[in-house]
Amino acid sequence: MTVLEAFKSMEYGPAPESDAEALAWIEQRGSQFGHFIDGEFTTPKNLFETHNPATSQVLAKVSSGTKRDVDLAVAAATSAQPDWEGLGGSGRSRFLYALARLVQRNSRLLSVLETLDNGKPIRETRDIDIPLVARHFYYHAGWARLLKSEFPDYEAIGVAGQIIPWNFPLLMLAWKVAPALAAGNTVVLKPAEYTPLSALCFAELCQEVGLPRGVVNIITGAGDTGALISGHRKIDKVAFTGSSDVGRTIRRQTAGQGKKLTLELGGKSPFIVFDDADIDGAVEGLVDAIWFNQGQVCCAGSRLLVQESIAEPVLTKIKARMDKLRVGNPLDKSIDMGAIIDPVQRSRIVEMVRLGIEEGAEIHQPVGPMPEGGCFYPPTLLSSAEPAMKIVQEEIFGPVLVAMTFRTPDEAIELANNTRYGLAASVWTENINLALDVAPKVKAGIVWVNSTNLFDAAAGFGGYRESGYGREGGREGMFEYLKPSYLKALAAAKPSKPPLATKRGSGLNAIDRTRKLYIGGKQVRPDSGYDRLIFSASGEQIGQVGEGNRKDIRNAVEAARSAAGWATTTGHARAQILYYIAENLSARAPEFAATLGSMNTGKHQEEILASIDRLFCYAAWADKYDGAVHQVPIRGAALAMNEPIGVIGMACPNEAPLLSFVSLVAPAIAMGNCVVALPSQDHPIAATDLYQVFETSDLPSGVVNIVTGDHDVLTKALSEHSGVDAMWHFGSDQAGEAVERASIGNLKRTWVLGGKALNWFDEDQGEGREFLRHATQVKNIWIPYGE
Ligand code: NAI
Ligand code: MG
Repeated sequence: MTVLEAFKSMEYGPAPESDAEALAWIEQRGSQFGHFIDGEFTTPKNLFETHNPATSQVLAKVSSGTKRDVDLAVAAATSAQPDWEGLGGSGRSRFLYALARLVQRNSRLLSVLETLDNGKPIRETRDIDIPLVARHFYYHAGWARLLKSEFPDYEAIGVAGQIIPWNFPLLMLAWKVAPALAAGNTVVLKPAEYTPLSALCFAELCQEVGLPRGVVNIITGAGDTGALISGHRKIDKVAFTGSSDVGRTIRRQTAGQGKKLTLELGGKSPFIVFDDADIDGAVEGLVDAIWFNQGQVCCAGSRLLVQESIAEPVLTKIKARMDKLRVGNPLDKSIDMGAIIDPVQRSRIVEMVRLGIEEGAEIHQPVGPMPEGGCFYPPTLLSSAEPAMKIVQEEIFGPVLVAMTFRTPDEAIELANNTRYGLAASVWTENINLALDVAPKVKAGIVWVNSTNLFDAAAGFGGYRESGYGREGGREGMFEYLKPSYLKALAAAKPSKPPLATKRGSGLNAIDRTRKLYIGGKQVRPDSGYDRLIFSASGEQIGQVGEGNRKDIRNAVEAARSAAGWATTTGHARAQILYYIAENLSARAPEFAATLGSMNTGKHQEEILASIDRLFCYAAWADKYDGAVHQVPIRGAALAMNEPIGVIGMACPNEAPLLSFVSLVAPAIAMGNCVVALPSQDHPIAATDLYQVFETSDLPSGVVNIVTGDHDVLTKALSEHSGVDAMWHFGSDQAGEAVERASIGNLKRTWVLGGKALNWFDEDQGEGREFLRHATQVKNIWIPYGE
């Protein structure tokens, strides 16, 4: 052995972190744990085991939560909530700060415990997971303190039910608990069945800081326990991170329960390497992207898209790098990859890789034995993949990289977006022009330029499309745990009347004019050929509108999708058009006032003036609802951009039929969305008279589409349509439930007011940032620079 070899072997020799302190912590508690309810641990019961995946040994037994346990925890959280919120932001801030300090003080214990229970390398828990946990509590201690001034007119939602996965156990707890508590909610949290220990240790920290009883409750158990929490009637908000399947189950289960819901689901995030990238940097980035935490990361860069001209050298370098990755004892500070969470998960990975090979991909795995005794899987590359392959489309959730090539930037973007998911993306190029051109075009909640897997409490995290909805972290994350204060005082929405008659279209006549549908900038007859008679509030027949059906909805969605270029027009241009609409409406105000008058729904003069004013409001907002540059702890910038959601379907209420229609359509289009709007079912006529206003206002065709008819039928068609990205529903409670239930196909965002009616004349309720937030999703673009 040469001196150099001896030195190298010393450098890479095993250097395990001691597990003595963490094992003693478990043993001192009898290696058995109850739940943490109302500030105390319950007697351990209905026990199941949690293992160390690196050794397959049992670490401890924990209790499986029953309905009674969940009821007790929810009751404790419910009774603790008013005082916790009443304590005020300052008081809550101190507790969050104390928790942050305690996490730091116990970081060694927590890191080792996490590594033992999860199997991930100690280097990751020590340097990434636990420091980020502390950071999250510090950051949210800040929001608690600033809550009153920064979120005026908002209040806590109540009791949050939080269900988290096993891949970042304590970090996911922090992401959920810190903002919930900062906002004044109390929580019932369930850690994943594979990794309950760090959450139980956290419960002890809550006791140590003297957190009021019932503010944090931890129930352990598997999916059935989770379902007891997510479905619990007294839980006001559900926050879930995990698989898309369970996300859909929870959406279905909670439909119509009036719960606020955030879902952080899977991904198949692209890692795009252009031919002018710093290749060595990109390869190192890739190691972090897909082999960090054994690839069990929702935002893992699991799809390598590499420009064809450099594919060979890049793949050669990746293989060489893979051969050097050390898989082994996670407590060893020099290993790169630890264990897979459980044999169940490993067999999913094995099956996907088998399928990939069967589908024709080429496999590379480093030679050499895997560690024995635990649940390990080697770093794996599947190259020559094709877009339609299952390994390209489905999340593998393991250390398996799938590689494909592209020729042009356009093709890279097309491939990147050829997925149901939209969580993250990584873009590698030395050309800033290219990087900043690609970043907004990729449909993902997070884009890392020349970097990957960067996280911080100040930058919101969360996905587009089927990766879920809602954000964690940042200002936007706080809104997920708050609700407008006016909500509790709202009256019930006016239910729609069944139509009195429909008839075959009888053509037009001056008094009894038939309003058609408005699709793709044209007035079109409804597919059904039927019209619906429309009556004034006092019962006189005042006109008729087309009876739209599913086919009309399909056409309208298609028109909206083909107007997607609207999203990339400037805010200034959109403002001009909104001003123009307002001006043209203003010119025809007497006519609209007469129509509103004939409808006899109330304050018609005021309604027309308020509608014009509301258009002005969103013309003003169109170029002002801009994003932020976050203070994240890197040398660089994290740009938070407000992007449109896409196509928004909206069912408008019966109250103030013109004003409510304008109040919903205007913010959506001001932010660059295209809409398919159903005007008030009972009083659609003023909205249908807007066709001519739109036609004379340079609004591109397809940006606003209007379909009249039976809301139950039309809302269902919209909510089920995979081309609709969000559905807003203002109307009866049952209809809202149907919207939430029908939205699970493409996991569209829903905004349902639970059968309540807003006062559209009130500027605090009827306009402003709440609408703009629903009309946008935040993309965080991380741009590190320098060395
Ligand atoms: P999972 O989605 O079943 O588990 C996540 C959490 O949900 C756990 O706490 C579990 O007990 C709970 N849960 C399960 N069923 C539930 C239900 N019906 N109601 C309420 N809570 C429920 O994930 P699992 O089975 O551990 O992993 C399966 C796949 O999910 C992985 O292969 C991966 O693709 C994906 N996954 C994604 C994660 C992410 O961060 N996006 C995290 C974990 C898994
Ligand atoms: Mg475990």
